[in-house]
Amino acid sequence: MNNLNIFLIGFMGSGKSTIAKKIYKKYGYKLVEMDELIEKNENMTINEMFEKYGEEHFRNIESNTLIEMSKENNLVVSCGGGVVLRKENAEYMKKNGVVVWLNASAKSIYDRIKNTDNRPLLKGNMNEEYIKELMDKRYEKYKACADIVIDTDRKKLMEIADEVIEKV
Ligand code: S3P
Repeated sequence: MNNLNIFLIGFMGSGKSTIAKKIYKKYGYKLVEMDELIEKNENMTINEMFEKYGEEHFRNIESNTLIEMSKENNLVVSCGGGVVLRKENAEYMKKNGVVVWLNASAKSIYDRIKNTDNRPLLKGNMNEEYIKELMDKRYEKYKACADIVIDTDRKKLMEIADEVIEKV
């Protein structure tokens, strides 16, 4: 029986959702995909939310969702990439579980997400240079929030999932 929550953080495309699913299937944690939950609750896509109401509105909903879900135990949460931008979110996650940062290079991130269009912050800027710039800006925030860091470049997905469980 697990009784702690695992919060997977990291840049867009760092593999949080895929790894969370593997941990859910193999280790029996309850799965929460934060962005999906937000889309379901708000009945619109993240893209639409950014377009209609702006980033600040999305961040408020993101923070409220985090607080609501963290009342439970045994969760593996795939967080939105920007959840660390608010200090109180970082504090909240650390208090309610173990925070695992899935780190990856800008090149791997770009290769993974270059053909997607569901990330409003990269709209019109889907290139490795911009990803690197945004990653650098957020680096200290991920670092400060993380209890555990896992480098995901050149690792198999199942290996990463096992490593998360070994380390938490
Ligand atoms: C964001 C990451 C996205 C989503 C939103 C904002 C960010 O989630 O929450 O587009 O600020 O990094 P993923 O990391 O799941 O793509």
